[in-house]
Amino acid sequence: MKLFIYHTPERVPTDHLPDCAVVIDVLRATTTIATALDAGAEAVQAFSNIEELMRQSESWPVDKRLRAGERGGVTVEGFDLGNSPLACTPKVVKDKRLFLTTTNGTRALQRVAKSPKVITAAQINRQAAVNYILSTQPETVWMVGSGWQGDYSVEDTACAGAIAQSILQQSDTSLIDLFGNDEVIGAIALYEQWKDNLLNVFRQCSHGQRLLRLDGEADLKYCSQTDTLDILPIQKEPGVLVKY
Ligand code: MLT
Repeated sequence: MKLFIYHTPERVPTDHLPDCAVVIDVLRATTTIATALDAGAEAVQAFSNIEELMRQSESWPVDKRLRAGERGGVTVEGFDLGNSPLACTPKVVKDKRLFLTTTNGTRALQRVAKSPKVITAAQINRQAAVNYILSTQPETVWMVGSGWQGDYSVEDTACAGAIAQSILQQSDTSLIDLFGNDEVIGAIALYEQWKDNLLNVFRQCSHGQRLLRLDGEADLKYCSQTDTLDILPIQKEPGVLVKY
């Protein structure tokens, strides 16, 4: 198995695909996707484009759908929900399909949607992603951070490092056999440095600051937890994620 990390969707190669793509948007899209499925949502269907989301969700029964999403961290006007994982309680999402659009996370998903296997990961479901990778042993794994509008986001790379480190610890492979690009070594070092204080990093990083300006302290706390949900979102058709 070879692990590759790409800090942003823009850095992902365009001429081939991995056996397994792991999309990461810790703040907050992939945290929200894991939380919604854990709370009983039927599926989360991701869109990078608001118009397309409106068009496709229109054909879904009104009592079985929720339109959710943000631009710049702020709820899209007229939508049922924003992108806060804390809003995804069983009472709100159970048996419903979330039609979700976000600034970066849904774009990252779209970039690798044609890969044979696509899963999403966040800090809260890190171990579930690790378990899946270890049990299925894909030849190539790409971990794709969502970043922010083409720029690097430290929280996504730290999560990719957390996954890589856990795979390394739980398999017989050495780092030199496992890593496919230098980003993996950097991400493991980053995670090692901050693993006991992720919330502090989240409060300081650019998107954390943006969310704090939008009253997002509770979201940051929730997203910074490690292995709190044993759930793995997996793509069943392009853009549609269900519980594995
Ligand atoms: C994104 O996709 O850029 C994020 O999930 C934004 C957010 O925190 O809502």
